[in-house]
Amino acid sequence: MILLDGKKTSADIKEEIALEVRELKNNDYKTPHLAAIIVGNDGASITYVNAKVKACERVGFESTLIRLPEETNEKELLNEIEILNVDNDIDGFIVQLPLPKHINEQKVIMAVDPSKDVDGFHPTNVGKMALNLPTFISATPFGILELLDRYNVQTSGKHVVVLGRSHIVGSPMSILLSQKRTVGNATVTMCHSRTKNLKEITKQADIIVAAIGIPEFVKADMIKDNVTIIDVGITRLADSSKKSGYRLVGDVAFKDVADKCEFITPVPGGVGPMTIAMLLKNTLLACKRKT
Ligand code: GUN
Repeated sequence: MILLDGKKTSADIKEEIALEVRELKNNDYKTPHLAAIIVGNDGASITYVNAKVKACERVGFESTLIRLPEETNEKELLNEIEILNVDNDIDGFIVQLPLPKHINEQKVIMAVDPSKDVDGFHPTNVGKMALNLPTFISATPFGILELLDRYNVQTSGKHVVVLGRSHIVGSPMSILLSQKRTVGNATVTMCHSRTKNLKEITKQADIIVAAIGIPEFVKADMIKDNVTIIDVGITRLADSSKKSGYRLVGDVAFKDVADKCEFITPVPGGVGPMTIAMLLKNTLLACKRKT
């Protein structure tokens, strides 16, 4: 079994980005600048956004964090987005999801200028991605493609089973892996909560991408030998023995399945760190596109 080490790979990518930033600076180009808006006090979201800002510092980007209170209304948020849309110094920005229930997420996503949408969530960018045109590919699926690429995991002609149909992961992952691209050309089956005979399908998979948000859902009796597993899940489970009061659990029962795998991502330290590296990559791309 080979661990797909997202922590190490993301550190490598960040190193590469930092080098490029130094080059830009040496040649008097602008420093890439990422902004992030977060609304409310969700602990996990705050942790993720802080990690994104910290990663910016590490690679020499500028970053701006805009924290808005839980009570912020839709109009106020849309106003903040417009300020970032027209700010020439901001190359790209994200609005951390999920948003409080009183705000229409779709409306917010559509308010972001597609040329600054480094999350790749705007319909214009999702459409380009689906047509295999150059665009910002969302950080999580982009990170998975990069991880598979750097470990030389073959996808061409393989049967990939994607668990989950979310707009952020399952849906784009299914599209991307079926496309004609370096990491792609796979035969993809997308499964979701209404899928029947799930185990029969997962047992046929050469590669499984688990993105359903149910802790330890994928067990040894659902997979065949030598499968590759990408675990996108990251759930906080209460654990009083931990200093933080919780432990992070993926969608895959790691200990149960690990011996049967050819490659597998750990949780934490697999897909998670890759998403941050790819967000930086998209921001660098946004900055270079302007110059
Ligand atoms: N919430 C969970 N994943 C993401 C992400 O990739 N981007 C944003 N903006 N919010 C998220």
